[in-house]
Amino acid sequence: MNDARPLLEVRNLRVEFPTRRGVLTAIDDVSFDIAPGEVLGVVGESGAGKSLTGAAIIGLLEPPGRVAGGEIRLSGRRIDNLPAEAMRRIRGKEIGAIFQDPLTSLNPLYTVGQQLVETIRTHLPLSPAQARSRAIDLLKSTGIPAAEARIDHYPHQFSGGMRQRVVIALALAVDPKLVVADEPTTALDVSIQAQIISLLKKLCREHGTAVMLVTHDMGVIAETADRVAVMYAGRIAEIGPVSDVIHQPKHPYTVGLMGSIPSIVETRERLAQIDGAMPRLNAIPPGCAFNPRCPRVMPVCRERRPELMPAGTSLAACWLHQPHEAAATAAGTIAAGSATGLSTGHAADEAAGKAAGGAGIHGGAAR
Ligand SMILES: Nc1ncnc2c1ncn2[C@@H]1O[C@H](COP(=O)(O)OP(=O)(O)O)[C@@H](O)[C@H]1O
Ligand code: SF4
Ligand SMILES: [Mg+2]
Repeated sequence: MNDARPLLEVRNLRVEFPTRRGVLTAIDDVSFDIAPGEVLGVVGESGAGKSLTGAAIIGLLEPPGRVAGGEIRLSGRRIDNLPAEAMRRIRGKEIGAIFQDPLTSLNPLYTVGQQLVETIRTHLPLSPAQARSRAIDLLKSTGIPAAEARIDHYPHQFSGGMRQRVVIALALAVDPKLVVADEPTTALDVSIQAQIISLLKKLCREHGTAVMLVTHDMGVIAETADRVAVMYAGRIAEIGPVSDVIHQPKHPYTVGLMGSIPSIVETRERLAQIDGAMPRLNAIPPGCAFNPRCPRVMPVCRERRPELMPAGTSLAACWLHQPHEAAATAAGTIAAGSATGLSTGHAADEAAGKAAGGAGIHGGAAR
């Protein structure tokens, strides 16, 4: 497999909802890559745009939501502007989807075997008997006991955890290159969440499947992801190798987010909860969307939107990582506004010199 080209390329993605009061921008200029076989974790508070990003990739944005800008490529092929039928084929064959609620993916009127066999035969040239045999193997690989008998059961005859195993089997049925998993364990009993995640991780490793894993569980991210993207108000705040983002977060929002998850910060200084709430889509402030909540806000943050900038091995959309720009703008602001005595943001100095190297939005070779 050629790891040089990313498997998935999301470039300047913009998702909008037209409303009577104007257009709401829910995803605003989001760019990232996923390498073949790589697991990208996506985190952020509720409403950050994680699910919409996943839905745009798998072509399941619900109208009136629409991709209004940018592009999405899978193995170099543009997939954001395909007709519905072509996208449906890609969705079965090349991209698998796993949602929070297993019942979203399963039809209650058909046995799990019928659903697996149909998916397999739609995409692979197999006889009914061959497809059934593949389906049984898939169910076994997901740890469903007595798969030969269970294959003829209906979704409601399975427990929540077993149902999500069926969904994983369905998502991986024809060996897709990418699986988009949106909070795949949130609806499940806490006691089985870890099992399902490790199953997903194991199967994707074995199959060489890349995963976009949306979750609010940083523990899951730490154990599963190669890289992590932190989303805030429809934008990427920070993206980088998972251990760096967790242990040396570069964006004040990530710092706050990590501080609010005690389990993984045991070895770190405990940080304060982030005050305030994420803005509504119709009230995203100018400049940095995080500025009203940011403990390190500078004048530039209220005026100019920070793009993703190199910050150690990560990228962070934060002016702290481009201190010269920040200082110049701040100085300009002060000059223009006469001598108000505003701080120019000394925090910027601290960040100087941090911007060495950088992983870019591109994944490293996953393994
Ligand atoms: N159908 C819709 N109409 C209007 N706004 C929507 C719709 N669906 C989602 N949104 C808004 O888009 C933003 C991102 O939503 P979502 O991607 O579901 O967030 P997350 O998955 O990170 O919790 C939220 O502000 C949400 O309210
Ligand atoms: S750009 Fe400014 S407001 Fe935004 S996170 Fe960085 S320091 Fe805080
Ligand atoms: Mg969501």
